[in-house]
Amino acid sequence: MFNEKEFQLKLDSCWPALPKKNLDAKAKSNYFLSIKKLLTAKNAVLIAHYYTEPEIQELADATGGFVGDSLEMAKFGAKHPATTIVIAGVRFMGETAKILSPEKRILMPTLEAECSLDVGCESKDFATFCKKHPDRTVVVYANTSAKVKAIADWVVTSSIALDVVKHLSKQGEKIIWAPDKYLGSYIQKNTGADILIWQAYCVVHAEFQATALSALKKEHPEAAILVHPESPPEVIAKADVVGSTSQLLKTSQELPNKKFIVATETGIFYKMQLASPAKEFIPAPTMGPNATCRCCAHCPWMKMNNLENLKEVLEQENNEILLDDEIIKKALVPLERMVSFKHA
Ligand code: 13P
Ligand code: SF4
Repeated sequence: MFNEKEFQLKLDSCWPALPKKNLDAKAKSNYFLSIKKLLTAKNAVLIAHYYTEPEIQELADATGGFVGDSLEMAKFGAKHPATTIVIAGVRFMGETAKILSPEKRILMPTLEAECSLDVGCESKDFATFCKKHPDRTVVVYANTSAKVKAIADWVVTSSIALDVVKHLSKQGEKIIWAPDKYLGSYIQKNTGADILIWQAYCVVHAEFQATALSALKKEHPEAAILVHPESPPEVIAKADVVGSTSQLLKTSQELPNKKFIVATETGIFYKMQLASPAKEFIPAPTMGPNATCRCCAHCPWMKMNNLENLKEVLEQENNEILLDDEIIKKALVPLERMVSFKHA
């Protein structure tokens, strides 16, 4: 079972040091040139998540790579002809790319980029929990290790979680959901499905504050509130739109509002602002009455990816994601279900 005290200890042991300081324009442009050359020489493509630093996203776009949410990243990597994929994100994203493309070499700027949801759902504990409920279909979030995926019947990302669970619930299936308790209760509320929920959470989204959000909305009554579903229910309750990173980005372009209050990791602001230069994007508060923030809307592990370690991994060809063949075989089944799932 999930244990909050153990979770905190595990987080402390993998919490990264402060990210590197920003480079000046000259150093940045030198890195861009060298990394571009290395990507071509190594037949490699760079795939980045929206939460990485803007310069990593800019470089992925400028080199024919890709920036997206966790589902889109996995799909792009599987289709791209490059023999080496460099994943700038957190480790479960590298593992997902390896499971979907086992014949390719998957490298990451660092293998120490964790995700608190993955940390909070250890495969042995989770397997024991699932064995106690053999009548339930096991649905896990993409933010889990390959070993946890290998136990699951379905893997979902936040962009298709509701559709998949609705589909399963219509067929009368009872569900185990892991690891995110907030996304789990959001899915339960919106599908009415019978769900047993693992109790881990995202340390970044858990810090958004509903009371301070209401106060901010009063200051900007014309702003639409966009919320990622890993946030607490009282924050989700204040949202105009709830969705995955790419769904929030799309909404920010489509809605007529000129202002948005955004409750997700601040890396997304780069693409939002790029797509809608005339609009204003305001970070949702992680401070307020009685609040203390440790992440303050920055994912500490996403921010471990930088131009220095990106160049280094291409030069040294280290930090490869290696997975056991048996785990790949088992984890591929629920992942392929997700990739080929057709929206109802
Ligand atoms: P998305 O699937 O929405 O990209 O979310 C991944 C993630 O880590 C959110 O915190
Ligand atoms: Fe994991 Fe949260 Fe970071 Fe996303 S923002 S990678 S869920 S810790």
